[in-house]
Amino acid sequence: SMDISAFTKKTGYTTLDYGFVNTAATKSEITYIDGDAGILRYRGYPIEQLAASSSYLEVAWLLIYGELPTESELAAFDERIRRHTLLHEDLKRFFSALPHTAHPMAVISSALSALSTYYETSDDPKDPEHIEITTIRLLAKLPVIAAYAHKKSLGQAFLYPDNSLSFVDNYLKLNFGNLAEVYDIDPVLSRALERLLILHADHEQNASTSTVRLVGSTGANLYASISAGINALSGPLHGGANEAVLEMLGQIRDSGEGVARFVERVKNKEDGVKLMGFGHRVYKNYDPRAKIVKESADAVLEHLGVQDPLLDLAKELEQIALEDDYFKERRLYPNVDFYTGVIYKAMGFPERMFTVLFAIGRLPGWIAHWREMNLDPQTKIGRPQQLYIGPGEREFPRS
Ligand code: ACO
Repeated sequence: SMDISAFTKKTGYTTLDYGFVNTAATKSEITYIDGDAGILRYRGYPIEQLAASSSYLEVAWLLIYGELPTESELAAFDERIRRHTLLHEDLKRFFSALPHTAHPMAVISSALSALSTYYETSDDPKDPEHIEITTIRLLAKLPVIAAYAHKKSLGQAFLYPDNSLSFVDNYLKLNFGNLAEVYDIDPVLSRALERLLILHADHEQNASTSTVRLVGSTGANLYASISAGINALSGPLHGGANEAVLEMLGQIRDSGEGVARFVERVKNKEDGVKLMGFGHRVYKNYDPRAKIVKESADAVLEHLGVQDPLLDLAKELEQIALEDDYFKERRLYPNVDFYTGVIYKAMGFPERMFTVLFAIGRLPGWIAHWREMNLDPQTKIGRPQQLYIGPGEREFPRS
């Protein structure tokens, strides 16, 4: 391992780097991205192979512990997570205090902060056993919290987790099951959702992961750090883009202005309108995740027998943008968010739940990064510099 301490000592020079475009804040062994070549690997394994053949919990283990689990390790991990899905009954009342119109991202981030209050004697960031149990609790309980946020928005009863079911099946049932009927698992939908969660599981130092690491660098526990990460994810330039894409497609459809005219408005930067789901800080080539999601969108809609004009609109938009010099020159391609919303919608999720699904997917990555940060002896409290450009000293006018 390279000794970089010489570079991190104060040199008298300060780099001004808005948006950290050129500044590395850490070393990491977790995820490799080559944005020019369109390559994404978790711990060395190509995303395409993991999306095709792995499970969410297997990928979570891989990201968090660094190697693929053995069969018995995975079985024990799965079993342990199933045994921690229940929420404290008092915490269920937390949802009643919020309006049914509450955005579910706000609900889940505050519920995670609230969750920490039940585990204050086992959340010490310096105790490896505490970190283990918190890892399990977060993986087990965030999906339940997310499903309750959804049910709350519909005015429907919360279901108890069904621990005979796999992680993803349980999640679908908590969202779409009800107390009066047997819920039928659709294996095609389960597999599609599992694949989407895997695709979102990590993406190195993106805004939310950097937030988790920064908050964690202060010695704050995992609950506080992940809750902050969820808030960072909620913005439309980050995870909120999947919701924004569907809004954009709906507006294009309703306005009747046509895709070509909309693209013109984007190019002219009219009212700051952007092509949501396009462009990426790191990918200057087709996002490898977007490729997989696009295939998945076709398969899921066909399976459900859904004809969604918004999917056709998305494809038309992509086609026009990819052939346009504005997008070519700036190397803007569809990112992971461009097609995910169409799939989530076909599955029955309301638009406001889309970013919540991103959060569940990203959770293993956040945990893996927090743990890596926490174990790294070179970690220091994150504390950027600034260039002060305000007034010099002046006298307060009254003595
Ligand atoms: N539509 C139109 N123009 C765009 C877009 C877009 N989606 N994205 C970038 N551009 C333009 C910019 O206006 C800029 O043009 P200019 O040089 O004429 O001013 C140029 O491309 C470079 O863009 P930057 O904003 O400098 O790129 P940056 O790396 O800072 O931003 C970001 C990346 C935030 C993802 C941006 O592309 C964007 O806003 N995209 C839309 C939102 C989105 O889809 N976010 C999801 C990101 S992926 C994720 O979180 C999973």
